[in-house]
Amino acid sequence: MIDPRSLDDYRAHGGYKGLARALSLGSDAILTEVTASGLRGRGGAGFPTGIKWKTVAQAKADRKFIVCNADEGDSGTFADRMIMEGDPFLVIEGMTIAGLTVGATKGYIYIRSEYPHAVEAMNAAIAAARRGGYLGDKIGGSTTSFDLEVRVGAGAYVCGEETSLLESLEGRRGIVRAKPPLPAHHGLFGKPTVINNVLSFAAIPFILAEGAKAYADFGMGRSRGTMPIQLAGNIRYGGLFETAFGVTLGELVDDIGGGTFTGRPVRAVQVGGPLGAYFPRALFDTPFDYEAFAARDGLIGHGGIVVFDDSVDMRRQARFAMEFCAVESCGKCTPCRIGSTRGVETIEKIMRGERVNENIALVEDLCNTMKFGSLCALGGFTPYPVLSALKHFREDFASLATTLQAAE
Ligand SMILES: Cc1cc2nc3c(=O)[nH]c(=O)nc-3n(C[C@H](O)[C@H](O)[C@H](O)COP(=O)(O)O)c2cc1C
Ligand code: SF4
Repeated sequence: MIDPRSLDDYRAHGGYKGLARALSLGSDAILTEVTASGLRGRGGAGFPTGIKWKTVAQAKADRKFIVCNADEGDSGTFADRMIMEGDPFLVIEGMTIAGLTVGATKGYIYIRSEYPHAVEAMNAAIAAARRGGYLGDKIGGSTTSFDLEVRVGAGAYVCGEETSLLESLEGRRGIVRAKPPLPAHHGLFGKPTVINNVLSFAAIPFILAEGAKAYADFGMGRSRGTMPIQLAGNIRYGGLFETAFGVTLGELVDDIGGGTFTGRPVRAVQVGGPLGAYFPRALFDTPFDYEAFAARDGLIGHGGIVVFDDSVDMRRQARFAMEFCAVESCGKCTPCRIGSTRGVETIEKIMRGERVNENIALVEDLCNTMKFGSLCALGGFTPYPVLSALKHFREDFASLATTLQAAE
């Protein structure tokens, strides 16, 4: 609907109404609105945005920062890219409101290098916002200053993890930092920092313009508002579908997505990126909701759904999860760095039919160690796709195994 290069067009579609109201409200009242909206971080962890902002607002420091996480590394996800390319002022407005709320005057948008069009669109929009008086000194005619800069990543999945992203922004190798201290207390250049996903910032202008209730009216349970769900993989109608939380997985895959592209039966869907669990048809009644997915050992992550038909070999998918972790591990902690490589080897043994039952038990044990012994969610969540494949698609691991073991 909006010409992404035109500030006037953005304003003609209600743009900057949220900032105008935010300027009239002041920090405390904005925090009340954001908290009451129920908005939770859309990058994956689902942490309440209002609480994060309040922590940074209350921190005492000479400088504070706002960082937008646009690394978007999850498989089957593209919502951040679509917003940055199609409606970049929305992200700028959301970050500006964040700056105003917590007392930060500088923000960075960390965009993955695979998104050159998003980088260009964001840079063009930042320049237009500066010209229009919406970035720089005295934004929107107020006494507040806020400015933005785009930084481009270098292609590491782990640089989407917030502390690793901060290391990368500071010019170092993207290695995960131990928490605490939280970025809200000790973030970019050691200063209190709000770090949020693109979608989280993009939800803010609506919440401020229309009020928290208008946003919180959508959704179910503790998952309030809407989620831009991304349908990908072997699916007939792939794309982005924004809807309120509560829609079921079956409705998304069968009704909205139209089943598989190949026309074969849907066998598995991976929800929430490479660290998300595989769900079988039997769990298609799961509503899109943070808690409902967690209760079934899954996660909704950044809202990506990747569909597989009945030709999928779930042993290969389990192996892939471990391989992905081995390739992308930052190497800081042992369960992830070493465990993922041992995981690949052990699953390969299962695939060759070697001592299958013992090796399955070993993989399960290894997953347990990775789950509880890893420093960040890369090592800590890799067990989810592996264990869900073993739990819901056991026949793929047992079929060849039983034959070969019987032969032994
Ligand atoms: C390995 C790993 C990769 C991640 N990748 C991303 C990413 O690409 N984009 C993102 O917004 N969050 C990503 N996250 C989550 C961030 O660490 C962090 O929770 C998020 O930026 C906070 O913003 P939010 O509260 O708005 O979700 C990743 C986490 C991990 C452990
Ligand atoms: S779990 Fe993996 S990616 Fe995370 S800190 Fe440890 S080695 Fe690095």
